[in-house]
Amino acid sequence: MPGITRRTVVGGGVALGGAALLGACSREGETTTASLVGPDDPRVQAAEEARSSTGREHRVALTPAPTEVDLAGTTVATWAYGSSIPGEEVRVRRGDTVVAELVNDLPDPTTVHWHGLALRNDMDGVPGLTQDPVAPGERFTYRFVAANPGTHWFHPHVGTQLDRGLYVPFVVEDPDEPLSYDEEWVVVLDDWLDGVDGTPDDVLAELRQGMDHGSGDGDGPMRMGATLMGATSDHLGGDAGDVYYPEYLVNGRPAGDPHTFEAPPGTRVRIRFVNAGGDTAFRVALGGHAMTVTHTDGYPVEHAEADALVIGMGERFDVLVTLEDGAFPLVALAEGKERTGFAVVRTGGGSAPEADVRPEELDGRVVVATDLTAEEGARLEAGDPDVEHAIDLTGGMANFDWGINGRRFDHEDPAGGAFQVAEGQRVRLTLTNTTDMWHPVHLHGHHVQVGADGPRKDTVNLLPGQTLSLDFDADNPGLWMTHCHNVYHGEAGMMGVVGYSA
Ligand code: C2O
Ligand code: CU
Repeated sequence: MPGITRRTVVGGGVALGGAALLGACSREGETTTASLVGPDDPRVQAAEEARSSTGREHRVALTPAPTEVDLAGTTVATWAYGSSIPGEEVRVRRGDTVVAELVNDLPDPTTVHWHGLALRNDMDGVPGLTQDPVAPGERFTYRFVAANPGTHWFHPHVGTQLDRGLYVPFVVEDPDEPLSYDEEWVVVLDDWLDGVDGTPDDVLAELRQGMDHGSGDGDGPMRMGATLMGATSDHLGGDAGDVYYPEYLVNGRPAGDPHTFEAPPGTRVRIRFVNAGGDTAFRVALGGHAMTVTHTDGYPVEHAEADALVIGMGERFDVLVTLEDGAFPLVALAEGKERTGFAVVRTGGGSAPEADVRPEELDGRVVVATDLTAEEGARLEAGDPDVEHAIDLTGGMANFDWGINGRRFDHEDPAGGAFQVAEGQRVRLTLTNTTDMWHPVHLHGHHVQVGADGPRKDTVNLLPGQTLSLDFDADNPGLWMTHCHNVYHGEAGMMGVVGYSA
């Protein structure tokens, strides 16, 4: 092992060239160190070689840059991958090698994180942990085998960049797909403020000042600057979100200029929902239809009937729907915020639904991920954990001090305080939400089993006071972020690292 100290990660480049990082933990004043498997460790390469590969390469050019987009007649300045939001969908088959050439035309450093992929650690896109940030004008090539079929997406892992227009759906097709359907639609949901009311960085600065977070007067959410108070949701255990967004988008379009999906009546459609929002859970429904839920976060679940689904930031759901005859609203209610994203599904004549319609399905059988059961073949084999880590979600709005176990993530010392696991171990993360607000917790590089037979997921919503056990097999060596996918909570410090001991 090269002798690298933990602090050398500060400078980025040097430490990242080494095979291991040092993690420290102190007990009763004593400091013990154990080295961690870093992104350039040969074990990362070995894990990649063990992934079954088709040998086919899929090339993608990614040029994040400032641009302008049209939101129902209003031009706003933002940052995007190309000229559209979301960026142009990337679709590969399981086992294909993605070769993505990133050219950073932004004024700030950036990276790309492949959300939902258990990929090689050095391609995970976390600045200061798995790679150096890519400076303005510089390039970086991401190259990895896409081993996980399903509905995924990618976005930068720097600051609040994902709350701009920098998000792209990423579908990995399963060559052994058991479902049959006639068509598939990808539906990307987003909350939008960039270029309308300042930028996400302005919002973060405002939130950091902290606030007295009252629960409102019961008359619905109240706006103060960029902050919302009293945005409550029964499905999320109270406070649903803290940020005021002027628009909610479905596939990059606001309700005033909705996207229309067209198909003949009777068509069986697979809809792939992605929530790319920064601070908004969406409750989605298709008026006049029930949905059959088939997957979440790329993994199959026992089919469940739903009238509506609650989707947290970073989560994905796949559903099957058989289309009726007519024109129907596809509505994404911003939980607690009393506003909706909207698209139209048209299979025949009839007038288009009104943009502000609230189909009754929104209040029918509302499914959240923890209601679901993993399909048997997708369930993690039962087994006792070899190692257990208690992860408490901590902090609050008053001081905007969101953290993990009372500690706010230190970007200067990212692997400090890492939760250590060893390759081959069965790991249990016991997450407890000690805060007054729900958090969508994302783990990179793995898919956990929620409880004994819940869904397999990479992004799990924890309601206030809730404890969930998340089990996984440590089979992907490296340094992996686990963090709240509320981009403002993550930036405030609700982030940590799971590290493999060397
Ligand atoms: Cu979708 Cu660590 O992120
Ligand atoms: Cu959070």
